[in-house]
Amino acid sequence: MNSFKTAAVSALMYSLAIAGTQAATSGQGVQIDHLGVNNTLIRITGNERYILLPVQESNDDARINVLVDGKLDRTINVRLAKTKVDYCVPFDLTPYDGHEVTMNVVTTQGRSTVREAKEDACWKNIALTDEFDTYNREKYRPAYHHTPLYGWMNDPNGMFYKDGIWHLYYQYNPYGSKWQNLSWGHSTSRDLVNWENHGVPLEPTGLGMVFSGSCAIDTNNSAGYGADAVVGLYTSADASQVQSLVWSTDNGETFHFHPGNPVITLESEARDPNMFWDDSTGQWVMLLAHALEHEMIVFTSPDMKTWTMQSSFGKGLGAQDGVWECPDMFQVPVSGTDEKKWILLCNLNPGGPFGGSATQYFIGDFDGKTFTPDKDQEGNVPTKWLDYGKDHYATVSWSNTPDNRRTVIGWMSNWQYAAEVPTMQYRSANTLPREIKLFKGDDGQIYAASEPSPELLALRDRLTLRVNKTGIGEKTRSFPLPKANDGICEITFDLDGTRASAIEMVLKNDDNEKVTMTYDPSMHTFSFDRTSSGIVDFSQDFPAVTVSPTFEKNGTISLRIFIDRSSIEVFGNDGRFAMTNLVFPEKPYTELSVRAIEGKAKLQNLKIYSIKTNSK
Ligand code: FRU
Repeated sequence: MNSFKTAAVSALMYSLAIAGTQAATSGQGVQIDHLGVNNTLIRITGNERYILLPVQESNDDARINVLVDGKLDRTINVRLAKTKVDYCVPFDLTPYDGHEVTMNVVTTQGRSTVREAKEDACWKNIALTDEFDTYNREKYRPAYHHTPLYGWMNDPNGMFYKDGIWHLYYQYNPYGSKWQNLSWGHSTSRDLVNWENHGVPLEPTGLGMVFSGSCAIDTNNSAGYGADAVVGLYTSADASQVQSLVWSTDNGETFHFHPGNPVITLESEARDPNMFWDDSTGQWVMLLAHALEHEMIVFTSPDMKTWTMQSSFGKGLGAQDGVWECPDMFQVPVSGTDEKKWILLCNLNPGGPFGGSATQYFIGDFDGKTFTPDKDQEGNVPTKWLDYGKDHYATVSWSNTPDNRRTVIGWMSNWQYAAEVPTMQYRSANTLPREIKLFKGDDGQIYAASEPSPELLALRDRLTLRVNKTGIGEKTRSFPLPKANDGICEITFDLDGTRASAIEMVLKNDDNEKVTMTYDPSMHTFSFDRTSSGIVDFSQDFPAVTVSPTFEKNGTISLRIFIDRSSIEVFGNDGRFAMTNLVFPEKPYTELSVRAIEGKAKLQNLKIYSIKTNSK
């Protein structure tokens, strides 16, 4: 029986092979040959700039070997469309001008005949084009937050400042809006507000995908690539996670791969190297996340190529769930004192305060080799969070910043549902950039404030509402939000809640989609309820209430709230608490309504600014 079947199958395959040319279809400049039930050759004969690959997100990845003059150039994974096309992704053909390009596609979907496989939607929709249109058509795409032109983005990484330009790299899939083909995308800005896209300078190599890492400016030419070369260290991820060195002499536009890579190998998962020059010891220091061990390993190096393990930090400390990832560490003055302290950022997933991914941090001292955390009065190392929303992850800082600034940016999503949010052309934005400052809390502990970067003041367009002072009773008072640009805006105000049990602030539209924020002056908490904020049913982890301590004792808070189509960032008391949450209202919120619960409150300095958009 078995042998009969085999014979029958091979007879069938043979006849199809003979009929190969009949099985081929061709669009303009593209010839498609179906070689077998899950194997197809795409021969590109046209001269256009891009081939558009049709994607269906619910489908499995097809593996595409790109052959240039018959030789394997690279392999990409694309969810080629089977029954319907969600969108197309471009594959850039310009690097291969004058060469023969063929794509050998292996799909995983079970097909019993080639005839059936030929019906897949992707084959009919593959096309060549000179233009790939990245015009923003999605209503949830933020207007003033950094987003990739299209495709999937996660962690910001490798960021540095040089010659007046903020360089931002990010975990990027150029071939779909879900995590895959991890590369570094590159954007730059002169003002932290307007971003320009620079393409994809780091793509997977034979050592694996390009995971997170860091870049430093090699002022003293310690690595030998020239003074002021940009040197990067990132995780090459395949069956193992190893660390690879790259360098750039054109300010991070293109990178060279160090031939001696990998420069660090460990036997267990270790990733996201974050390096910096330590002036006090005259050497490079690097933190590497020993992900499953919940520790950050400290290495030192004279030249960024040879690294010596010095210590490890974190076992048993802080939040210990999930994996530890994306470390960062730097020294910051403590406001109002002469002291400087080190802060160690430790992103973890899952295990955040409201589920999924979040950024915790430790305050302490660093002697060039070992980080020693501060303890509380009971002798414990407290767990501290940089942001009390659900959508703030992989936060790291820019290196080489001016004026001793410590500017950080996060990924504005959560691994729980990042791939399911209701966008398609692109997935995920960054948070607004923030300045890290340290302050002493009433409990004697040192905490991190994250204040919106000063450049963000330039976002303010028209002052659409101003109320200097008004009493708030138990009856709701409503204030209109700007209408322009789908209501994107900044709202600032101060609240005195000393004579109320709580103050409720609601952002809502006339479909009764709403976000309810509550300040509780006696508990010193601020909460954010997005359970009725709009579309919430794409993940059971999305509807949520997040709560933050307000780090005040006197029953008053000042708030800055940024709304950008699908995100709300709340900064309280100059960033002493921050809360970042995504929302997907069907229509923009049109009003802010405020009421006191049991008692009365004072609202002062209410200002609402509309924001201009440059986004296309
Ligand atoms: C964090 C992370 C990193 C890794 C990257 C891969 O979100 O898991 O640890 O380098 O994403 O995309």
